[in-house]
Amino acid sequence: MSPLSPVEILVYLDDCDAFGHVNNAALLRMFERARWDALAAGPGADVFRRNGVAPVVRTVTVEYHRAAHPGDRLGFAGSLTHMGRTSFGLHQTVRRASDGAVIADADFVFVCLDADERPAPVPDAVRRFFGCRPGMRSGRLHRYPVGDVTVMAELTGDGPPILFIHGFPLDRTMWRRLVGYLPGRLRIAPDLRGVGLSDMPRDGYTMGAYADDLAALLLALDVERAVVCGLSMGGYVAFELLRRHPERISGLILANTRAEPDTAEGKRQRAELIALVEREGAGALAQRMLPRLLAARSLDALPEVVAHVRSMIADNPSVGLVGALSAMMERSDSTPLLGDIRVPTLVISGEEDQLLPLAHGEALAAAIPGARRTVIPEAGHLAPVERPAAVARAIAEFLWDVS
Ligand code: MLT
Repeated sequence: MSPLSPVEILVYLDDCDAFGHVNNAALLRMFERARWDALAAGPGADVFRRNGVAPVVRTVTVEYHRAAHPGDRLGFAGSLTHMGRTSFGLHQTVRRASDGAVIADADFVFVCLDADERPAPVPDAVRRFFGCRPGMRSGRLHRYPVGDVTVMAELTGDGPPILFIHGFPLDRTMWRRLVGYLPGRLRIAPDLRGVGLSDMPRDGYTMGAYADDLAALLLALDVERAVVCGLSMGGYVAFELLRRHPERISGLILANTRAEPDTAEGKRQRAELIALVEREGAGALAQRMLPRLLAARSLDALPEVVAHVRSMIADNPSVGLVGALSAMMERSDSTPLLGDIRVPTLVISGEEDQLLPLAHGEALAAAIPGARRTVIPEAGHLAPVERPAAVARAIAEFLWDVS
């Protein structure tokens, strides 16, 4: 995607507060001026008006890093973070021209509105300006402001959307090989808050917060409904989405997961893991969990899978891991939801899953009306990572039959 052409703006006295710093609201005005100037240098500042729509800001997140003062020349640069049907996102950075210091950076999500103030398609001229072919909605890795955090999501392909929610203590990259086997769909794989490349706030880790982040992500992508595929903790988040945002779900794929909450013994083990991460960090968690996440055969015969899983865990920040452990510990019982699920559902298990043996998947599928069931041979708890082709085949057949 092509970047916005750089724009320079001089700071005047009336941009500043009583302390001689550029005021935050003045900086927002400058971000806006830089966008219009970049458009003027491209398809014309009237490109939206010509096409009968107005771009309005839906969300904005600004991080202020340094002060700027009268007389400073500020350089604004920007790039597209996502392109939806009626919305798009921009990331803008402002630096002091004299020394390159970053003054602030900001993420904006815009929605195009027509004359009746209803969402309308982003004009093709604007898509072309950003290097998107008309109708194209995905790039690679994008950041999306979703409430109080920014989440990173990897988008692949185009077509009916599937949202992939990773398990604990992993990140979005666990889906990389699997999504390669599912062409013809928009595959959306975010990092949950606190892990991977998403923001890692000090607190605010609950299943509800994860689910709300993902509902906001779908909104930012202009996705009304998606098939939701969650692995293990990702399944817990999928149940929370079902509880809080059922209108967003067109189908469910529940991989190596369960609907029951933690038992007293489960909570005790979580507390032990929290203490381990706080004491020794994510590397110790990787050491402890790896042998239980993967099937014995994967541990022996798939060194690249072992290395990938180890680095996903070891690279995650302690704050996000501890947050996820607390969120899982406090999660609600989702078994009462199961009998009311009315969307097509596929339940996947790994034949050699030590954490959730086959009986869990059997009980889950039996409780959901019309649910299908697949068992992946030679796979443990991380079936989509260990046997991506087999899992993708099961998903593709399920989607083919239900859509
Ligand atoms: C996961 O894979 O997400 C975890 O095993 C879930 C859990 O610990 O309950």
